[in-house]
Amino acid sequence: MSGSLILGLETSCDETAAALLETPDAVRGHVILSQDEHALYGGVVPEIAARAHLQRIDDVVEETLREAGCGLPDLDAVAVTAGPGLVGALLVGVSWAKALAFGLGKPMVAVHHMEAHLFAPSLEDCDAEPPFVALLVSGGHTILLHAPVWGEYHLLGETRDDAAGEAFDKVAKLLGLAYPGGPAIQALGAEGNESRYRFPRPMLRTNQQPGDADFYDFSFSGLKTAVATFVSELDSLGTLDDERKHVAASFQAAVVDVLASKTLRAVEETGCARVLLGGGVSANTRLRDELGRRLDSGGTLFHASPRFSLDNGAMVARAGAYRLERGDVAPLDASADSNLPFPGLVIASA
Ligand code: KG4
Ligand code: ZN
Repeated sequence: MSGSLILGLETSCDETAAALLETPDAVRGHVILSQDEHALYGGVVPEIAARAHLQRIDDVVEETLREAGCGLPDLDAVAVTAGPGLVGALLVGVSWAKALAFGLGKPMVAVHHMEAHLFAPSLEDCDAEPPFVALLVSGGHTILLHAPVWGEYHLLGETRDDAAGEAFDKVAKLLGLAYPGGPAIQALGAEGNESRYRFPRPMLRTNQQPGDADFYDFSFSGLKTAVATFVSELDSLGTLDDERKHVAASFQAAVVDVLASKTLRAVEETGCARVLLGGGVSANTRLRDELGRRLDSGGTLFHASPRFSLDNGAMVARAGAYRLERGDVAPLDASADSNLPFPGLVIASA
């Protein structure tokens, strides 16, 4: 092995994940353990998540090292998601990483979860680097930004209420589907007719101008409410069972239309036709296809395969390698921060 060996740890939500990266982009070990105990509650229960991470993290790291064929003393650094996320869940990973780094006498790097998502596509495609317009869509965030270089992220828009993934999860629950809702809606929607119903496209109007506050911003809670009202009408008419797949498809079409339209606005305004799609919702094939179609031959779309687009340790190690190169080593009194600010995020003044 020639590059540095970086262990990446991810425990910000309901995946206990680790990966061993040989820099720059060779993933030698990769383990993701999803916590299925939350399915019973239709969403992630923070206390259960933290306890489950604590019970599993030793085994997850051990299995990762076994896959990679190396041991703890071979590591050159430990990268860990320090935020944003559920604080109890984050603390498990951060405490574990600190103890390991201290014990080995190796540097620890505190990684921002959404910056890690930004680095995920570069694990599989060395061309997936700035400049690009990035749409980051996960269970907790919806962020549109322009990155001229790594580490400099110009914020264009973000959600004012629910994140895109959260909307998928909530609507799935309304339709009686299992958590996580995104894959369930995608699967059911594939059987439905997405033109059957026209749900609202929040914050998307043709007369918006680049200087308008809502030109790039998103809002999904009103859409969720519109679907909720409609679902209860269908239920009282006794037609919900037959219409469920059409509702799923039509809801998905509304979310995809808003996300793709705002991303294409960013392409037009920045003049940058390289688009990077990141975060768990980037696994949605309808979204990928729509962005690909709208960019057509005039642009390039980057996204990771599902093993790297859903929460995982490899993207954390990859972002950690970048931060380490810049000398961003975390002190041993570093802690988890559920609202960790996005490093390098530039917010344009109005
Ligand atoms: O990035 P991620 O794995 O965890 C967070 O950082 O939140 O994203 C999880 C989110 C969930 O809301 C899940 O429903 C959504 O990503 N998701 C999808 C799909 N796969 C996962 N949403 C739509 N379509 C999918 N295929
Ligand atoms: Zn994530």
